[in-house]
Amino acid sequence: MSRIPETRASDVLVVGGGIIGLVTAWRAAQRGLAVTIADPEPGGGAAQVAAGMLAAVTELHYGEQTLLALNVASAQRYPAFVAELEETSGQRVGYRACGTLAVALDADDRAHLRELHALQRRSGLASEWLTGRECRRLEPMLAPGVRGGLRVDGDHQVDPRRLASALVTACERAGVVFRHGWAERLSVTGDRATGVVLADGEELTADQVVLAGGSLSGRLNGVPADVLPPVRPVKGQVLRLTVPPAYAPFLSRTVRAVVRGSDVYLVPRENGELVVGATSEELGWDTTVTAGGVYELLRDAHELVPGITELPLTETRAGLRPASPDNAPLLGPTALPGLHLATGHHRNGVLLTPVTGDVMAVVLVSGSLPDEARAFTPRRFSAVSQEQPA
Ligand code: GLY
Repeated sequence: MSRIPETRASDVLVVGGGIIGLVTAWRAAQRGLAVTIADPEPGGGAAQVAAGMLAAVTELHYGEQTLLALNVASAQRYPAFVAELEETSGQRVGYRACGTLAVALDADDRAHLRELHALQRRSGLASEWLTGRECRRLEPMLAPGVRGGLRVDGDHQVDPRRLASALVTACERAGVVFRHGWAERLSVTGDRATGVVLADGEELTADQVVLAGGSLSGRLNGVPADVLPPVRPVKGQVLRLTVPPAYAPFLSRTVRAVVRGSDVYLVPRENGELVVGATSEELGWDTTVTAGGVYELLRDAHELVPGITELPLTETRAGLRPASPDNAPLLGPTALPGLHLATGHHRNGVLLTPVTGDVMAVVLVSGSLPDEARAFTPRRFSAVSQEQPA
C-alpha cells in the first residue's frame, strides 16, 4: 500500500539539528514562533567531534577583523548563555573559564607568535607574552624546549557534546517539534521557499525555512544555484585521551601551538578528558580516521607535552567543518524569500553558537539582520553583490 505523504506546517522549519540549528530553533521558540527541526539525529554532527575551544583571541587571523568582532561578541555572551541553558535544560555543559596558553617550540614559531601578539594588541585584545620558563611555571607538563608563549586568559572552553544535548532538551522544553528524517528537497512555491520534503516523502511546510545543515548545507536539492551556500567540508581528526586521577592536574588550561605549520591543541576537561586536535584536510566527505592523522597529532602533541604518551587513548574521530570562502558564517535572509541561512561557521561553530541564536531570532522575527551581523549576509557571495559599479 503506498504511503500518503503528510504535510505539517509551522512558522519556522530549521533544516539541520546540529548546535547551530538547535540554538536557532530554541531562540525562535522563545520568541513565540512554532518551530520544527528536521534532522535524523538531532545534536549530532560536528559538535560530537569538536574540542569546544572558545578561541576568539588565539585563533585570530590577518584579514579576519570583521569576524573577530562577532567572535568576541559571542565569547562575551557565553557565561550568561550557559547559565540560561543550564537552568532551562537542567544539564551542565562543561563550560570552563580556564584560559589558553599558545606556545612556541622553535625560533620560527616564536616569530609567528610575536606577530600574532602584535595583531592581538592592535585589535585591542588581552594577551601577555611569557618566556619559556614562565610558560612552564604555569604548565609544568610542557616540554623543556618551549621557547615562549602567549597567555590568553579570556579564551575558554565548553564541552560541545554536552552543549548539544542541553540544547536538544531546551528545544523540547520550549515546544520545538523534532522530525527525525533527512531533508531531501527544498519546496519552492511561486517565488518562495515553503518547506522541505523528507527522504520518506513526508512534506514539512513553514512560513520560513532556515538551512542550518553544517557542511551539508550546500547539498539540499531544489535550492536555486544562486542561493545555494558555498560551503565545503574541511575534515578534522580529533583524539580523546583520559587523564587518570593520579596524573591530575595534567594541564590546567588549553595549550596549543603551530608545529611544522599545523595547529595542535590540548583541551583539558574537568572530567579528566583531554581532547587533542585537529587536522585540517580538504578531502571532501571523507571522515576516515587515518593512521597518519593520529600519528601527526600525537607526534605534535608529544613535542609540546611529552607526558601524553602515558595517557590512555580512548577515542579517535573525524568530523567536517562547514567552511565558507572567507571563513565567516552565512547568516540571514537569502535572495529566495522565505529561505534563510545559518551555516559556514568553519572553525568557530561552538564559539559562535550564542550570537548565532540571537542573530537568527532577530532575522526570523523582523526579517532583517541586526547591525552586528550585517557583514555576514549570504548575499555577499552572490554574483550581483560582487559586480563593480560602472
Ligand atoms: N576551532 C578549532 C578547529 O576547528 O580545529
